[in-house]
Amino acid sequence: MSKYAVFGHPIAHSLSPRIHAMFGAQTGISLSYVAIDSPPAEFRASLAAFAAEGGRGANITLPLKQDAFKLSAHVSDFARRVGAVNTFSRRADAGWNGDNTDGPGLIRDLTSRHALDMRSRRSLLLGAGGAARAAAHALLDAGIGELVIVNRTPERADALADSIGNPERAHARYWKDLRACGSFDLVVNATSSGITRENLDLPFNIVTSRALCYDLSYGAAAFGFLAWARAAHAGKALDGLGMLIEQAAESFQLWHGMRPETDPVYAALRDELPLRATD
Ligand code: ATR
Repeated sequence: MSKYAVFGHPIAHSLSPRIHAMFGAQTGISLSYVAIDSPPAEFRASLAAFAAEGGRGANITLPLKQDAFKLSAHVSDFARRVGAVNTFSRRADAGWNGDNTDGPGLIRDLTSRHALDMRSRRSLLLGAGGAARAAAHALLDAGIGELVIVNRTPERADALADSIGNPERAHARYWKDLRACGSFDLVVNATSSGITRENLDLPFNIVTSRALCYDLSYGAAAFGFLAWARAAHAGKALDGLGMLIEQAAESFQLWHGMRPETDPVYAALRDELPLRATD
């Protein structure tokens, strides 16, 4: 049985082992996939131990994606532009190929599951950390019309826009000026504010009834942003569960050469993770 794992810290609540078990059952591929808790200081050693036990591939989540980039023998073009790796595949020479499936996962969820047409969309990206970086490159690669980036610390939004190097399509604005920025067709929350349950200060006039509001996190961490989107009467308010499942499917395809069906997995997990707070 081939061995796979997800590394992160903390990792106990990761859905990835269940998602890959469902993909394996569906495709008839026999695999083991476990969660490995690894503080950053221990990552190199735990990865080496996993490799010594015959590990064939791994997903990497917070806070290890930049470390994974540095530990890769070779990285894909997209991972290089993002500067982060979320998927390792074992090479014949025993090193790791590093990919980033977060970006393709986001685009597949938006376009295939939620039927979003990317062309000439005006988008707002909230945040400028690692998650925002993957989302920005993926949205621009997918043909989004214009990308406005705002961040609590404005210098980081400037730095992300500068690193993209396409000022016609991607530019930074001050958060405090959002109210005067017009309306957006797509608003992506890539901040980590939901994890600490802090509310984002967002005006309602930045969305219309046609807008799609998307939080890269899922479960309770997305509730605050989704509640704002509903209060602003956005057309759709979605969390990142679909992106999580799609990035897993992209990794599965890299490892096994076969793309699993994601809709049954989405339906099963959606039942457990409703889009609204339940108490
Ligand atoms: P990740 O890899 O998940 O993107 P990160 O690199 O630490 O994590 O980035 C977190 C992002 O969330 C940053 O854009 C951060 O803003 P700062 O650059 O100003 O720190 C943003 N963020 C976190 N808490 C926030 C809050 N309460 N309000 C607004 N933005 C917040």
